[in-house]
Amino acid sequence: MQRLISAFVLILVGLHYQRYRQNEYKKYRPYYQWWYYWLRDTVNDRHFAIAYGTTLCHKTDVKSCVYDGAAVSFSVVDNKQNYRMQKYEFHDRNRFTVNGTFNFKILSDTNETLFEIIPLNDDKFQIRGNMKKENVNNVWIHEGCPKDIEIEWDLTLTRIYGWYAQDIFEGPDRFLEGVIMWNTYSHTAEVEGKLTIKGDDVIIKKDAGFRAYGDGNWGELMPSSPPKQKPSAKYAWGWYYVNIPSDDKFQELSIIAGTGLSYMDAILRTMDGRFCDIRLDGKTHIELRTMEVWDMSFESCNDGKVHRFDVERSNWVNFTDSFGNATIPLRQLVTLESDSYLITMDFNAVANNFNRLLFAFTDYVFSDFEGLGVSTDLLIIEKTTGKTLRNETLKSGGVEYGYLFDITVPPLPT
Ligand SMILES: *[C@@H]1O[C@H](CO)[C@@H](O)[C@H](O)[C@H]1NC(C)=O
Ligand SMILES: *[C@@H]1O[C@H](CO)[C@@H](O)[C@H](O)[C@H]1NC(C)=O
Ligand SMILES: *[C@@H]1O[C@H](CO)[C@@H](O)[C@H](O)[C@H]1NC(C)=O
Ligand SMILES: *[C@@H]1O[C@H](CO)[C@@H](O)[C@H](O)[C@H]1NC(C)=O
Ligand SMILES: *[C@@H]1O[C@H](CO)[C@@H](O)[C@H](O)[C@H]1NC(C)=O
Repeated sequence: MQRLISAFVLILVGLHYQRYRQNEYKKYRPYYQWWYYWLRDTVNDRHFAIAYGTTLCHKTDVKSCVYDGAAVSFSVVDNKQNYRMQKYEFHDRNRFTVNGTFNFKILSDTNETLFEIIPLNDDKFQIRGNMKKENVNNVWIHEGCPKDIEIEWDLTLTRIYGWYAQDIFEGPDRFLEGVIMWNTYSHTAEVEGKLTIKGDDVIIKKDAGFRAYGDGNWGELMPSSPPKQKPSAKYAWGWYYVNIPSDDKFQELSIIAGTGLSYMDAILRTMDGRFCDIRLDGKTHIELRTMEVWDMSFESCNDGKVHRFDVERSNWVNFTDSFGNATIPLRQLVTLESDSYLITMDFNAVANNFNRLLFAFTDYVFSDFEGLGVSTDLLIIEKTTGKTLRNETLKSGGVEYGYLFDITVPPLPT
């Protein structure tokens, strides 16, 4: 019987992994980095998503640099009230600062701190934000809410599990020339603090009714299809998340998977990467990684072999919003299999679970359809004993379909 190495290896994920990396990349290439958080109010099936990001392309080798600066977005998906909204502010790059390798900050014209991410120690970080009426001129997008709606947050996350998905590729990433990187340094965390939307306070208590997810992306290249090909649903991002909170954190379950097939450039051609971290509890940890580039495939698994890591997408629908049309799958079925475990996560979304998150880079805007609070059938079988460890339907799944659709967005605020 295969023993799980992971049970005995503590993965050390520190501040280090959230660090700002622009200075590790080439100055003459465009660069992006995002920090994404999903705050889940499980009892009320309410979800708040916050993304901090930068795109730096001025004075680089790209022909067109439209989206240079720092952006912050705040979204709500409320499945009970059937309500969603999102608001984006865009700020000039000189209002954005990083102290050393970390501490993202956006300052107002009067040097007031509007947005920041403060690492307190390896397992604790604070995220703050203040979308104020008087900064209405910084609003780029507002959907389902007035342009000048006031939103403020101050949340402290205490990590339960984190995983640095692509650490084995970070060295190679320099060699792979800026391919998108992804890091789930906090895929489940306790969270506490306060959120205020239009004067209404949401008090976030440090209990199992609330959880926060945190990850990040960075790089020089965004996923895309090969040139001269029609856009294809094949070249997409996928993100898959289930979490079962527990008062006894040692019993918490959290599974995060990400997949991406992308055309990189004439030399690297197409790259297919799949990454997954499975925490069945505090001691059972399985990680799966596969990567195909050129004719090579890399694979890493701490439980024998990766027998399966597949995503099947179906139930495609046309989604129409103010940015245009997009065809997305409502159902995504993820199958994961190592030597000892067989896991399926069957995400069955409804269109109203989705928000179209917008990620701007150089001169285009990527659509990231993100479903929060998605009905998900989770089945976990321990192959060695044939025992069914979990067989349940969760209401709190997270699923994504990201693609470079044709999109119409308002111009940036000036
Ligand atoms: C920068 O960070 C260091 C260490 O985290 C801190 O001591 C210092 O006060 C910070 N400087 C500014 C200008 O925020
Ligand atoms: C904001 O801070 C910068 C750098 O410290 C300083 O040059 C500038 O004068 C300040 N602006 C205001 C309005 O205080
Ligand atoms: C979506 O729209 C396209 C183009 O209008 C159409 O060809 C397709 O049949 C539609 N798909 C669905 C599932 O409605
Ligand atoms: C979206 O699709 C609908 C139905 O096919 C069509 O009427 C509409 O013009 C399309 N909108 C855009 C922005 O392409
Ligand atoms: C999982 O539960 C469903 C009903 O909830 C049942 O039909 C199915 O057989 C179960 N599967 C396993 C492997 O236990």
